[in-house]
Amino acid sequence: MPSSGQQAPPVISARGLAMQFGGMRAVDGMSFDLSQGEILALIGPNGAGKTTLFNLIAGSLRPSAGQIFLAGTEVTRDPPEARIGKGLARTFQIPKPFAEMTVLENVLTGAQRQAGEGMLANFITPRTVAAEERAAVEKAKALLDFLTLSRLAHEPARVLSGGQRKLLELARVLMADPKVILLDEPAAGVNPALLEFIIARILDLNAQGTTILLIEHNMEMVARLCGRVIVMAEGRRLTEGRPEEVARDPQVIAAYLGVAA
Ligand SMILES: Nc1ncnc2c1ncn2[C@@H]1O[C@H](COP(=O)(O)OP(=O)(O)O)[C@@H](O)[C@H]1O
Ligand SMILES: [Mg+2]
Repeated sequence: MPSSGQQAPPVISARGLAMQFGGMRAVDGMSFDLSQGEILALIGPNGAGKTTLFNLIAGSLRPSAGQIFLAGTEVTRDPPEARIGKGLARTFQIPKPFAEMTVLENVLTGAQRQAGEGMLANFITPRTVAAEERAAVEKAKALLDFLTLSRLAHEPARVLSGGQRKLLELARVLMADPKVILLDEPAAGVNPALLEFIIARILDLNAQGTTILLIEHNMEMVARLCGRVIVMAEGRRLTEGRPEEVARDPQVIAAYLGVAA
């Protein structure tokens, strides 16, 4: 375990993470610590390896090398569900809701550890299950309210706009009461009013104690949310600093231009 002195261990610690796809190292030796209560941004040009790094942390990919710790406990070999159980949530860059299920039903898919599921199910009465289900529905409705999707609760998810799908994705992961959320481009393609709304909701969640790791290209959003930014390029850490520092760093500008060229 990474040494942490007397302080609480970082919410997430990555040590030397690497991911090889065939001959290409999408992530090539990434290490970082995410502190309790922090909002940390991960930026970098397309193809830098940001989403792959999220997949390694969430457990949907097994790293070629390196270690991942959640609150000081190694989870490198744990499946995604075990990490969700430890309070980790992640949103997808391109949300794919169940199109024919209602918005409310989609949110309910994010519920964890229902009494009626798993090995103990036979020992739990139908009454307990019904009470849990009612509680889950109430919680899902409250989350739809928090994200202004209530009036769409009973519509099939296919009617949602791209921006509304981003909100539904957030509502879904909040059902599990995460301690830390990995947000993959939560504001990509959303209109300016919705961008403001998403910034406000992220600040609300953080004020309630949720730690956040954010992949985002919008530097205004990054500057308003984050004290610290890690810049990735070609699978590696290019630099790290405050948003206004990295935004004017010539290496960072060159990395973005290199991809555009
Ligand atoms: N499952 C995969 N198989 C092969 N290559 C992949 C896979 N996922 C991502 N890559 C490649 O890894 C690199 C990093 O991708 P990604 O992590 O999506 O970057 P970013 O999110 O920073 O845009 C890209 O070259 C991408 O094509
Ligand atoms: Mg990505």
